[in-house]
Amino acid sequence: MNLINNGKLDFSQLESITKKPKLFTKDEVNFWQDPYISEHILYAHLDDESDEGSRKYETVIKSVLWLSEYMNMPKGARLLDLGCGPGLYSEHFHGQGFKVTGIDFSQNSIDYAKEEAKASEYDIEYICQNYLEIDYSNEFDVITLIYGDLCVLSHQERDLLLTKVRKALKPGGYLIFDLFTKQYFKKGHENQTWYLSREEGFWKEEEHLLLHEHIKYKKDKVRLEKYTLIMNNGRMQNYHIWKHYFSIKRAKEMMKQHQFKLKDFWSDLCGKPYEIESSWIGMIAQKPLK
Ligand SMILES: C[S@@+](CC[C@H](N)C(=O)[O-])C[C@H]1O[C@@H](n2cnc3c(N)ncnc32)[C@H](O)[C@@H]1O
Repeated sequence: MNLINNGKLDFSQLESITKKPKLFTKDEVNFWQDPYISEHILYAHLDDESDEGSRKYETVIKSVLWLSEYMNMPKGARLLDLGCGPGLYSEHFHGQGFKVTGIDFSQNSIDYAKEEAKASEYDIEYICQNYLEIDYSNEFDVITLIYGDLCVLSHQERDLLLTKVRKALKPGGYLIFDLFTKQYFKKGHENQTWYLSREEGFWKEEEHLLLHEHIKYKKDKVRLEKYTLIMNNGRMQNYHIWKHYFSIKRAKEMMKQHQFKLKDFWSDLCGKPYEIESSWIGMIAQKPLK
């Protein structure tokens, strides 16, 4: 999309910035897979000072230790880490005796994870793939989907993924995941912000104006983080990050609909008891034995 048409600023294009996008509008380029942005996402995953890309290292370790103890699986139990990023959880689950497969569609993150595993001589299988396209049957004892991944999918994609996950689990196998609650959006989510970047930044190498809007879709229990970038040649690009939020009731209904047995839930994936003010729900669900 270009804002300059015949040497003039095209106000009909500019107007699109002010419109509320249709629910689940897709971007021209998926932001996780954009070669430039995904490099910066990888830095964010590996930044131990921040919770931006992944949770801090100490939280990841705490979570893996706690979940491993909770599940009490035999050594060699098979674990599928969906949206594994650079393999932070995968590596630690491997360290706890799981036979791990990690899947992510960011080539940058998978390349990094593979190199790390090779350097440390960890026997972890990493696959660069869209997890909506997995096709396993009764293979895994545990499947993890960590850091809100289930919340950023459309209703259709979420149903598809949960169907595939259920099929991929062995009877009695566990699904571990976390969800945003409404409280997650209470802090630090202003409606509109913008900045001018004169040098390379998270989104682009070239100078750009970034307009960020936080849009509510109340009826659908969805929030949109809409990032509009305007470059100096008039090119405009949008990135939409859709975020569903859940209550315990809604999360339970989702599990029931997909024929999972809800085993437990918390405020996080480290076993902190659930409170009404929690920003997250950590959940463990089980594929029934029959
Ligand atoms: C919020 S990050 C979490 C990464 C990791 N679970 C962690 O907590 O460190 C989400 C990850 O899921 C990946 N991802 C998102 N959608 C995906 C899809 N449809 N298929 C495969 N990977 C996906 C992204 O590339 C990213 O690495």
